[in-house]
Amino acid sequence: ALAPELSRQTKLKEVAGIPLRDSTVDNWSQIQTFKAKPDDLLICTYPKSGTTWIQEIVNMIEQNGDVEKCQRTIIQHRHPFIEWARPPQPSGVDKANAMPAPRILRTHLPTQLLPPSFWTNNCKYLYVARNAKDCMVSFYHFYRMCQVLPNPGTWNEYFETFINGKVSCGSWFDHVKGWWEIRDRYQILFLFYEDMKRDPKREIQKVMQFMGKNLDEEVVDKIVLETSFEKMKDNPLTNFSTIPKTIMDQSISPFMRKGIVGDWKNHFTVAQNERFDEIYEQKMDGTSLNFCMEL
Ligand code: A3P
Repeated sequence: ALAPELSRQTKLKEVAGIPLRDSTVDNWSQIQTFKAKPDDLLICTYPKSGTTWIQEIVNMIEQNGDVEKCQRTIIQHRHPFIEWARPPQPSGVDKANAMPAPRILRTHLPTQLLPPSFWTNNCKYLYVARNAKDCMVSFYHFYRMCQVLPNPGTWNEYFETFINGKVSCGSWFDHVKGWWEIRDRYQILFLFYEDMKRDPKREIQKVMQFMGKNLDEEVVDKIVLETSFEKMKDNPLTNFSTIPKTIMDQSISPFMRKGIVGDWKNHFTVAQNERFDEIYEQKMDGTSLNFCMEL
């Protein structure tokens, strides 16, 4: 393995103007020709929007709230990331291909880069969106600790990279707008991280219905408890503690960092906040999307 300071020379590559991990771009033809199946459920998120959280919720619903069955494997192995690649390990596509149906898969891709067979098979999509400022802060700390992403530089430098959409997976603005705009044309359940924080039970019930499951109220209560930030932070199957330090150095910043709404207030200067709001208004002009910035 490379020493961390060497691996930090990592550069992103681009597909149609969207920066992605170089190994993903190098494997692009396999990703684009991925064969979705009609009963696939795809978890879709912009990075740091609550992917792991919704995965654990979906996992528990799928297992009817059976904690033991949920503990069969670490969370990263449960729902393959279709664009993930790190040769010589099997790619996300390889893992998905080896999985029995009905499959639950995961992606950070914006709509325009999704393998076309998802659309033609009319799959189900579960999209989780998180307000831009908290997402940006969370991504910054993730960039700092994730050794296979480029070095984010200072917070001020990263601020520019993020608003210019030059972070991995591209612009937050384009990603959320893209998925929001097509929500009525496909089977999409569009959720918000902030709603999940405010009323996890109600949001979990929505997911349950979307998955065609009907669980007793006491099971739903148990899922609420088991998928809380505190529980998941302590659980080695969900807190990424099994990932080697050369990939994620959690001594820099833990994967389960804070799990709150409004941490952006501890990071944005007044000037940055004003500038961000201005840019936000321009970029989000004309959309009916509304985010909650604090609880
Ligand atoms: P913070 O860095 O703000 O703490 P993803 O899984 O998409 O990478 O997102 C990670 C973010 O979701 C992190 O945000 C993490 O703490 C938060 N998160 C993970 N599990 C959570 C849970 N059960 N409840 C609330 N937030 C959670």
